[in-house]
Amino acid sequence: MTSLLAIDCSPRYEHSTSRKLTSLFVEKWRAAHPDGEVVERDLIKTNLPFVDLPWIGGAFTPPEHHSPESAAAIKISNDLVAELQAADRIIIGTPMYNFTIPAVLKAYIDHIVRVGVTVVDNVGQLTGKKATIILASGGDFSPGSPFEGYNQASGYLRQVLGFIGITDLDIILAGRERAGLVGETAIEEFGDVVALAAAA
Ligand SMILES: Cc1cc2nc3c(=O)[nH]c(=O)nc-3n(C[C@H](O)[C@H](O)[C@H](O)COP(=O)(O)O)c2cc1C
Repeated sequence: MTSLLAIDCSPRYEHSTSRKLTSLFVEKWRAAHPDGEVVERDLIKTNLPFVDLPWIGGAFTPPEHHSPESAAAIKISNDLVAELQAADRIIIGTPMYNFTIPAVLKAYIDHIVRVGVTVVDNVGQLTGKKATIILASGGDFSPGSPFEGYNQASGYLRQVLGFIGITDLDIILAGRERAGLVGETAIEEFGDVVALAAAA
């Protein structure tokens, strides 16, 4: 059975452009894959810890050498990696914060990039997956726009996801959100491109 992992990280919920578009993507994907499974991962509700010393101990030593603290710290990472490994299709909806990704999405990335697990000898292990990112922003960072070069999110996401083997990646720049704080034009402006991505 094919499966979709849908990751959201905006704290603005019903006002969020990225969440509106992610949920449209999920709706269209479900319609195209009636037997498919959808797993929703809301990073705002996941309460991800940052990498700390017990986590590093857990990530860089074999399980039989884990202290109780390291075993506990690495568990969420193992769970998130397993969730990602199980997905055939991935959609990530994220705001742009200060020209890059929100801290909560970076914390997620720190949990899923695992030497010896998702990267072995510098080779990404999560191959054969297709991913789409919806990057919501107040400004316009589309190619040729004056602020294109300020967008640190797209290149970083492409690089780090590629590092773990997710190289088939599309990024939808849901920028220049005219409605500002309420995102009400999101579907009107970007719905078609999101629907197309979900059908691909
Ligand atoms: C803390 C913070 C930082 C932001 N930084 C940027 C930025 O660097 N560039 C930009 O274009 N918009 C920025 N914005 C605007 C958001 O990217 C925009 O409102 C987007 O729609 C947020 O996604 P959401 O609607 O899914 O929450 C920022 C918003 C917040 C709250």
